[in-house]
Amino acid sequence: MLGIIFGPPGSGKGTQAELITDALGTAHISTGDLLRAEAEAGSPLGREVAPLLKAGHLVPDELIERVVEQRLREKDAASGALLDGYPRTVPQARALDMVLDASGRPTAFVIFLNVDHGTLTKRLLQRAAKQHRADDNRESIAERLAEYRDLTTPVLDYYRGEGVPVLEIDGSGSVEDVHERIVEALRPLRTEAR
Ligand code: AP5
Ligand code: MG
Repeated sequence: MLGIIFGPPGSGKGTQAELITDALGTAHISTGDLLRAEAEAGSPLGREVAPLLKAGHLVPDELIERVVEQRLREKDAASGALLDGYPRTVPQARALDMVLDASGRPTAFVIFLNVDHGTLTKRLLQRAAKQHRADDNRESIAERLAEYRDLTTPVLDYYRGEGVPVLEIDGSGSVEDVHERIVEALRPLRTEAR
């Protein structure tokens, strides 16, 4: 089963993806984590993307499309994967569809975590105080939210147009409450898949 977890920066994609993939036994593929690992390793790809990550800008579509295509070919993704942070533009969604069509597995669902703007900023600034993600500062957070609004939100309409179930989840409240809502929303799809 291939699913997507979708939402603005700070909506809890990574947090909830960990919980869901633990339960489903599928791979968690976070494009942000993949890119940050490259940047930390100082690889040629990492050196190319580090300034973009830091500023809160999206990296070029072709670049991330290649990274994801390669990652999906790895063994742990054979039984299924939850994509976190990808696709983030309509061209990326189309590119993913081509890859999935070729391998005969369609996108099963999109989980859309809906969280208000004030809560997003608060969560990211709280994380900034504890961890040191290069893009957790007021300027980059504003940039990430703007890129999300302008380039990423159209992806939801793309999937609705393709007939893929888009499960809109209230992403506010505790981590446990949000997880419960996701489990409930996925239940009918999991029954159907049996
Ligand atoms: P990415 O790593 O995907 O970052 P993001 O979308 O900005 O989102 P975050 O990871 O900050 O938030 P999240 O939604 O995962 O929430 P989390 O669980 O961490 O992308 C980073 C960058 O990489 C991009 O800006 C771009 O440069 C590049 N990139 C990545 N993918 C790309 C693509 N496809 N195309 C082009 N460029 C790409 O939670 C956030 C915080 O809140 C945490 O501290 C968490 O503990 C806390 N929290 C979570 N849930 C709750 C809750 N219910 N209550 C209270 N606190 C909570
Ligand atoms: Mg994340």
